[in-house]
Amino acid sequence: MSNLGTAIAEARDTIVHALGPAPRIAIVLGSGLGSLADSLNESRSIQYAAIPGFPRSTAPGHAGRLVSGRLGNVPVLCMQGRFHVYEGWEPSQIAFPVRVMRALGVEIIILTNAAGGVNLDYRPGDFMLIRDHINLSGRNPLVGPNDETIGPRFPDMSKAYDPALRQVAHQAAASLGTALHEGVYAWFLGPSFETPAEIRMARLLGADAVGMSTVPEVIAAVHCGLRVLGISCITNMAAGILDQPITSEEVLEISERRKPAFEALLRGIVMQLASL
Ligand code: HPA
Repeated sequence: MSNLGTAIAEARDTIVHALGPAPRIAIVLGSGLGSLADSLNESRSIQYAAIPGFPRSTAPGHAGRLVSGRLGNVPVLCMQGRFHVYEGWEPSQIAFPVRVMRALGVEIIILTNAAGGVNLDYRPGDFMLIRDHINLSGRNPLVGPNDETIGPRFPDMSKAYDPALRQVAHQAAASLGTALHEGVYAWFLGPSFETPAEIRMARLLGADAVGMSTVPEVIAAVHCGLRVLGISCITNMAAGILDQPITSEEVLEISERRKPAFEALLRGIVMQLASL
């Protein structure tokens, strides 16, 4: 087995030992959304620090542990706290937990984030299902030698965000009466927020929302054969749209305020997914 394969297997075994066998569905909780993991029933957790090979998250609003439990009676595995390239992690380090999920037997990964609204029809507090992304960071977790046992050298990204899962998400949102946009997420490296000119550029390129996460995980997930669903909570209008500065306090405040609705949406989605 490759060094990477061995490292993934070690992390997997540590997690199985602590949490038991993994469920089919994993959820990566974005900025301000981490407390969803605290509301799981019959939960068990393990700190990232106790898992060999895992990075440790440092961003505000991010704890650092893996929690398994039931959401709306559906078994899920939550990453409470995620890793960002702006923290100094290599994109390949961010890929590692995603690959471990795959090795655990996870089939579907739901990635959530806080994002800035680029589409002028969006409002802070809105939710957006990610249809596709634009990688404006110049970084990619698959750079370097490829391990063919994990996935192909040149993975196809034409349906990175699983169309059938998106349909399920729309159904879940509709039955809750929750408005759900669908749009394109552009990944900027951060940690500075974008400039107004960058946001005008992103809009010209077809972006509806911008953020500093998710894309490296999605690339790693597609590479290793996970089905992906991505959901953004629009926490602010992106730079230059309103005549006011963007602050991380605002991002956390809006994601906090929208947390009950976001959790309800996630619960609705996993309940529909469980019956697939
Ligand atoms: N830009 C980048 N990332 C973000 C934003 C933003 O405006 N809001 C929340 N995350």
